[in-house]
Order: sequence, then structure tokens, then C-alpha cells
Amino acid sequence: MQIITEIESLRLAALSELDKNETLEQLESWRIRYLGKKSELTTILRSLAKLDLEDRKEVGAKANQFKSILESGLAEKKKLLEEAAIISSTEEGSLDVTLPGNVMTTGRLHPTTQVIESICSIFQNMGFQVVEGPEVEWDSYNFDALNIPKDHPARDMFDTFWVDNNETNEKARLLRTHTSPVQIRVMEKEQPPIRVIVPGRTYRYEATDATHESMFYQIEGLAVDKNITLADLKGTLFEFCRLLFGEQRNVRFRCDYFPFVEPGVEVAIECLACHGSGCRLCGYSGWLEILGAGMVHPNVLKRVNIDPEIYSGFAFGLGVERIPILQKGIEDIRLFYSNDLRFLKQF
Ligand code: PHE
Repeated sequence: MQIITEIESLRLAALSELDKNETLEQLESWRIRYLGKKSELTTILRSLAKLDLEDRKEVGAKANQFKSILESGLAEKKKLLEEAAIISSTEEGSLDVTLPGNVMTTGRLHPTTQVIESICSIFQNMGFQVVEGPEVEWDSYNFDALNIPKDHPARDMFDTFWVDNNETNEKARLLRTHTSPVQIRVMEKEQPPIRVIVPGRTYRYEATDATHESMFYQIEGLAVDKNITLADLKGTLFEFCRLLFGEQRNVRFRCDYFPFVEPGVEVAIECLACHGSGCRLCGYSGWLEILGAGMVHPNVLKRVNIDPEIYSGFAFGLGVERIPILQKGIEDIRLFYSNDLRFLKQF
């Protein structure tokens, strides 16, 4: 049949031309020519009505088969040309290799974490083990076991965030005001010899200002053994100060009071800014106080069933943020936890 031969030759022509299209525009005119409203194929499909039933079936099937071959060929070619267009646009213009690259910013440790790590590593090298304890603590661990009974005025040293009502509740919880309750937890579990260092968050119910934050970090140290004396405490803390602040730094050791130690001491270093002559940083005293310490009070040892006739120990505690504040002249403690990258990126 004449018309079948026509479709055959049309198919050959269409497919060989399809391959020659090099741009999406060319492909579009190919589509109009072979599949558009005025194409030969459309004319053939329209003329089907004039044929008798037998021929109409045969020609119709051929024509539709032809149409779907062209349509799938078109879709495939279009995909290829589009991919090629993306590649060539990057090659030709949009990739400028002379532009500076995107800087990959790397994270870093928070200044507080950095100080904690360097302090802990000094004590680890002396044989202390790092341990941690809970931030929500029992009244009994934060105070009673540390020789600060209920209604004792020493509790006024620690402005406390209570979690439970401490007046109606015998076993009230609080946000620990210092890391010292972890001493109790360690001594309850372990028998001497004990050497631990305890970093962690602590809380005080205080109005915040440039020198006070309601949350800050402390590091606690505890050593319990036979024959531990004040000389061991002094030697350990002097060595620590020299390692952290420099070999030549003078260190001062003098009496202070903490309910859970006897005797209690305070350690200060020669001012980092004026080296002792007196300036604004040290309040014209020449000294910067950096930690509290002392020999563990016999009452504290007794409560955890360590015999103070056999064993003795020393403990110390320091505020972590105070160290970089003094070393780097940071003027406001609130900068540490306000998440301002302009501050944090400097460390
Ligand atoms: N816990 C005390 C404080 O927060 C510091 C301290 C710890 C003092 C251990 C002596 C011994 O002020």
C-alpha cells in the first residue's frame, strides 16, 4: 500500500535528521516538522477516515507506532542536549578559577573548655584522675556532708538555686553551688589512696554583672592518703601555678576559711599585669587570688567512713573562667556564655 511505504520512508528521514540536531532550538523545529499539527504524520492520521475499515486498522497501527518511536527519540535527544548545555555553560563562563575559593571555617573548642583541658592535663600528669558528678545535687552532698549543717551561717557563702523547697523538704535538691560535693561522692565509693580532679558547671543565685555569672565552671581537686600534709598541698599547688602561669611567677599561700577544710588556705599569684607593683587588675594589691584550698576536715572524712586518725587529705577548688579573664584581660565574664562569635573566635 502506497501510504505504508510513505510512513516507512518518513520514519527513516525523521530518525536520521533527529541525530543531526545539535541544539535545543534545532530539536524544536525538528519536532514541529515531524510531530507538529502541520506535519505529514498528522495529515496521514487525519486521512485515515477516508480509508475502508481493513486498511484503516493497518495504517492506523503503523502510524501510531511511528509516532511513539519519534516521541521517545525526541525525549532521549532532548535529555542529551540539556546535559551537554549544562556542562558547556560551566566550561565557558560561570566557573572562574581565579576567584578566591569558599573558605571552609573549622570549629574550635570554647575558651572555657581549652582552659579546663590544660588544667586537667597538668594534674593528670601528677597522677590525678578526672571524674565528674551531677549538676543537680542533694542538699546533703552540697552542704551537710561538707560540714555545713542546716541553719549554719556558712550556708550564706553560697547563694543557692533550689530545685525543691528546702524549708518543707528534708531531702531538697539544688543546683550545686560548687564542685566539692563530688569529693563526697568519690570518697563514698573509693577507699584511699584517692587522687581526683573534678571539672564541671556550678551555679549561684546572683545578679549577673561583669564579674558575676549565675553559671560558671569550677575545678575541684582531692587527694586522700596516709601521711598527706599541708606541705603536699603547698607543693602541688605551687607546681600547678608555675606550670600554668610560668616558672618565674611568685605564689602566695595564706590562711582562709572554708567549712570543709581545716586549716583553710587561699592561693594567689603575683599580678599578671603589673608583676606585683600594683595596678587596676589586682586592685593595687599586687596579687591575684586564684583558688581556695585546705586539709580535708576530719568531720568530712568521718562522714564517709574514712578514719581521720589513719588518713588525711587535701582539697582545692578554683573558678575556671577567672584564669583566662586574668591572663587575657577579658573585662566581662558574661562574654563567655553569650555566644557572640566575635568574642569566641579570638581564642
Ligand atoms: N568549694 C569552694 C568554693 O566554691 C572552693 C574550695 C574547694 C575551697 C576545696 C577549699 C577546698 O568556694
